[in-house]
Amino acid sequence: MAQVEQRTAPPLTINRLHPALGAEVLGVSFADPLDAPTRDAIQAAWMEHLVLVFRDQDVSDAQHVSFTRGFGELEIHHQKIIKSTATPEIFKVGNVDEDGKLIPPANETVKQLTSARRWHTDSSFREIPSMGSLLHGIEIARSGGETLFTNMYAVYDALPDGLKKQVDGRRARHNFEHLRVLTGLPPVSEEERAARPPIWQPMVRRHPVTGRKSLFISVIYNDEVEGMSAGESERLIGELADFADQEQFVYRHIWRPHDVVMWDNRCTMHRVTPWDANERRVMHRTTIAGDGPVIAA
Ligand code: OGA
Ligand code: MN
Repeated sequence: MAQVEQRTAPPLTINRLHPALGAEVLGVSFADPLDAPTRDAIQAAWMEHLVLVFRDQDVSDAQHVSFTRGFGELEIHHQKIIKSTATPEIFKVGNVDEDGKLIPPANETVKQLTSARRWHTDSSFREIPSMGSLLHGIEIARSGGETLFTNMYAVYDALPDGLKKQVDGRRARHNFEHLRVLTGLPPVSEEERAARPPIWQPMVRRHPVTGRKSLFISVIYNDEVEGMSAGESERLIGELADFADQEQFVYRHIWRPHDVVMWDNRCTMHRVTPWDANERRVMHRTTIAGDGPVIAA
């Protein structure tokens, strides 16, 4: 009997990494073109697990970018100091320059990047914040430099009533410049400020794919909460971030060389733990642009 050729995805193995979020995906190579069934299987796993880990992806920036395109348009960062010269879609996270030399910790770019030690989501300061990010671990710190992710659906659901009342129906301001203040850097240039004016976003958002509600805050970009003084705003954002930072909501990623971690910025936050500043750490990130405004919930 003649066999009908079927176009099915190669089998993917998906191993949960934490009860709240995170799964390892085996059976995908970023070096191969991404076919539609594989893409759809990854998309479904992503919506279920929020954070996906792909192992052993020793890929070029071009392959990283091309894989990312399977999931949407790519963002290009507005600051020159952050972008790769050869591949502008690559956001350089780390302390090594393009000649391969360690950058001293006092350097402005390295200092700005230390802001990632606090809970945030990527480019929430954009009018349309990013959908997701894919971070490729090229040189891994020997200790520290772990990346923590929190499930903001679960955080919102578990918020005590007192906190829920304070965030429901309220907006917070996301200001790129706030991260410069937090890391003790001079203000951005007029040009950069004009490119990224502060914007207001709902503190509770609805995910456009899953329809679920999540808490939407950022310690590094929120400089104001509607109807609150600067001090009150900082206290509330701090309290919410501390609440999110509980074991039952957090997956801790311990990097292996050439892991690629893909996270959904619409329902998670992340932060990196400190590492020895004299040790090299090189990570390249692509960022999937959001496909619509944040939906208030
Ligand atoms: C990022 C980020 C964390 C890390 O790439 O957006 O916050 O582990 N990085 O370097
Ligand atoms: Mn980040």
